[in-house]
Amino acid sequence: MRMLSFTRNGATTALQFLAIVLLAQIGMATKTPEPPKLSFLYTAYVECEPNLMSTIAGPHGIRKSIPIVGGNFSGPHLSGKILNVGADWGLTDPRTNVFSADTRYNLRTDDGADIFIQTSGPKAPDGHLHLRLVFETASPKYYWLNNVVAIGILTSGLPSTGNLSLLRIDAWNFASDWNATQFVNSTAAV
Ligand SMILES: *[C@@H]1O[C@H](CO)[C@@H](O)[C@H](O)[C@H]1NC(C)=O
Ligand SMILES: *[C@@H]1O[C@H](CO)[C@@H](O)[C@H](O)[C@H]1NC(C)=O
Ligand SMILES: *[C@@H]1O[C@H](CO)[C@@H](O)[C@H](O)[C@H]1NC(C)=O
Ligand SMILES: *[C@@H]1O[C@H](CO)[C@@H](O)[C@H](O)[C@H]1NC(C)=O
Repeated sequence: MRMLSFTRNGATTALQFLAIVLLAQIGMATKTPEPPKLSFLYTAYVECEPNLMSTIAGPHGIRKSIPIVGGNFSGPHLSGKILNVGADWGLTDPRTNVFSADTRYNLRTDDGADIFIQTSGPKAPDGHLHLRLVFETASPKYYWLNNVVAIGILTSGLPSTGNLSLLRIDAWNFASDWNATQFVNSTAAV
């Protein structure tokens, strides 16, 4: 209200302007930002063999070693199979009993591109695991995956056969991420 008194003085219009800018900025700063939009990346079905490690805590907690031996993934821009070359070396924190995944495995797209994937993330209160997904590939077609920020929701305990367990991972990335790659140096190795 005190600032309004400036209006009575013709010489203080600059101060008035500053006050308005300042108030506008305070208003902007206190408004909750819009959450980012996500794009659906894929749904994966992941086949795992039983944990190989002891359930006794080691130096970092209770380490698991769960072989990832197969499965598939399917989405609007990439689909294919999961190769038998990975595992989840997740840890249970003995202080909270919360398990966190820590995986490395390989995807092969239907058109033959190899993609290395690393995921990590804790079990959420609702029983699903919340994952961060990081992709690495040299494929020019899928190179944009190197530069996406992706998340996933893992559901375990799907019906399966033999000693395999079956998981489902629904994955998304920021809608404003890259979805194609423009190579600036076509002679560089890809
Ligand atoms: C992917 O795997 C799931 C679970 O095994 C299966 O039900 C589904 O048919 C598979 N999809 C494809 C495209 O192979
Ligand atoms: C799971 O079963 C397959 C096929 O029967 C076998 O080759 C594999 O060794 C088993 N893995 C474990 C960890 O029991
Ligand atoms: C790819 O990204 C561009 C730029 O963000 C966007 O305009 C376009 O719709 C996207 N294409 C697809 C297939 O998502
Ligand atoms: C393109 O990449 C090649 C191979 O890495 C390098 O020798 C060359 O200097 C690069 N050219 C430019 C313009 O950056």
